[in-house]
Amino acid sequence: MSDDVSRETQRPDGSLTPPAPLSMPETARGVFTSDRLPLAERYTELLATEGVVRGLIGPREAPRLWDRHILNSAVLADAIPDNATVCDIGTGAGLPGLVLAIARPDLSITLVEPLLRRTTFLSEVVEELGLSQVEVVRGRAEDLHGARTFDIVTSRAVAPLERLLGWSMPLVAPTGALVAMKGQSVTDEIAESQQFLLTWKCGVPEVFEVGTGVVDPPTTVVRVAWADPAQVGWPLAPAARRRTSRRGRRGEK
Ligand SMILES: C[S@@+](CC[C@H](N)C(=O)[O-])C[C@H]1O[C@@H](n2cnc3c(N)ncnc32)[C@H](O)[C@@H]1O
Repeated sequence: MSDDVSRETQRPDGSLTPPAPLSMPETARGVFTSDRLPLAERYTELLATEGVVRGLIGPREAPRLWDRHILNSAVLADAIPDNATVCDIGTGAGLPGLVLAIARPDLSITLVEPLLRRTTFLSEVVEELGLSQVEVVRGRAEDLHGARTFDIVTSRAVAPLERLLGWSMPLVAPTGALVAMKGQSVTDEIAESQQFLLTWKCGVPEVFEVGTGVVDPPTTVVRVAWADPAQVGWPLAPAARRRTSRRGRRGEK
């Protein structure tokens, strides 16, 4: 599709949502199957309208939603095995988790986000698009430590790698992995995380690109598994719980 959707929508109170100039790139057809493409288009439209009105997406992002956000997230699907359980922490308005759910109906996806405004939007989108394989959890990643594990824990623009490891690895199943979208700083972030990786028995981080020929530049991904699935750093889960409850006692947010 290359039609420009440039329209205002009227809300029940009579106010107008801003126009949504959405031009879907042709490459999207190679990323989403024809039956899922309409879902990707509708989600993009919702981001450009309700997402902007509710302050979930900056107005300047609206015209570049497809390239910078939707396709950039969708290409992460190449790093996720078939039928995996996926937890997307700090998903915000659903990036990359909701896009993955659209691109990959075989995945079971849990979207974790602490802010109510965002989880309300997510739940509405999930219901409208009929994404029955998606669960929306309002909370911090740490709230799930010791309670849930997943094959893959994704994230985008959530925290520097060391902090991300602390939030994500307790959610990673013994044979699973953290799969995080990162920028140019990934090498430095890995260097700064060496002690953590060693202490918690994580494997050597792999850095690779996905989406070559679809997004420019391609998306940089870091993947971290457990060094030995038989010796998962289980102490991490109780330790993380202790940190969380200490923080709770001190009344920190
Ligand atoms: C910069 S936004 C990125 C949102 C989305 N991933 C994206 O790429 O557009 C970071 C998100 O992480 C969430 N967040 C911060 N700390 C978190 C935590 N400990 N657990 C889960 N989410 C967290 C914030 O509420 C926010 O929505």
